[in-house]
Amino acid sequence: MIKKCLFPVAGYGTRFLPATKAQPKEMLPILTKPLVQYGVEEAMAAGMDHIAFVTGRNKRAIEDHFDITYELEDMISGTSKESQLDCIRSLIEQCTFTYTRQNHMRGLGHAILIGEALIGEQPFGVILADDLCVGESDGIMAQMVKAYEKYRCSIVAVEEVPVEDVDKYGIVSGQHLDDEYVRVEYMVEKPSPQDAPSNLAVIGRYILTPDIFEILRNTPPGKNGEVQLTDALQAQAANGKVIAYRFRGQRFDCGSIEGFVDATNFFFNRKP
Ligand code: G1P
Repeated sequence: MIKKCLFPVAGYGTRFLPATKAQPKEMLPILTKPLVQYGVEEAMAAGMDHIAFVTGRNKRAIEDHFDITYELEDMISGTSKESQLDCIRSLIEQCTFTYTRQNHMRGLGHAILIGEALIGEQPFGVILADDLCVGESDGIMAQMVKAYEKYRCSIVAVEEVPVEDVDKYGIVSGQHLDDEYVRVEYMVEKPSPQDAPSNLAVIGRYILTPDIFEILRNTPPGKNGEVQLTDALQAQAANGKVIAYRFRGQRFDCGSIEGFVDATNFFFNRKP
């Protein structure tokens, strides 16, 4: 069983300035729920009830969100508003939350390595809350757990993207095992369209085996001078230990304004 899920949430969210000047980008709401809560719900639905955050400066609102707010809760107790807190209350009751800080922004790989203290020696999920995912039946992370149970190695969620967009993603290529799975042979972070080995892009869902930490410790800065998770995964892929999984569902890039608006419209139209 995979019990822990890591959320790297130290990034600045400069694309949403000034909205993110004094609040974490992960707290921007899609309707009434902050982005990060969708991610935690997805982890929880996959059986991961230990939620580990790698936070940074100006991110305290995330900790407060996953805690009780006595004064407010007392104030609305017994009113019609109370039920609006049901979803977050149930997460707080069911999950354990742990936090550590990334002091320097040295890339996603570095953030994951900082998270080692919260994860230890076990396979774990990673959710990048900017990528808001809606599964067709099961959530994406629950689908990935099934992929892990089948292959017992690191799993990355992938989808095809337009060729002109490959420079925004980690791109994979390898042996297509069937419609759903690719045994990854090659991974590269944000290649130019002419250098990309395919248009299969990694989106922000991973299951990682714990040997990734030792690999990350020895991974030098790569693309943009940052320690790239993609480079560490390439070391596992070289041993046939990374499977790319084409998830069933939809993903919104809520790190971009267009994706954020699309997600908002999607959830608004789906409202009961
Ligand atoms: C990160 C990863 C990249 C991945 C992407 C998914 O990039 O480095 O490999 O494809 O997340 O959203 P970022 O979007 O943080 O630049």
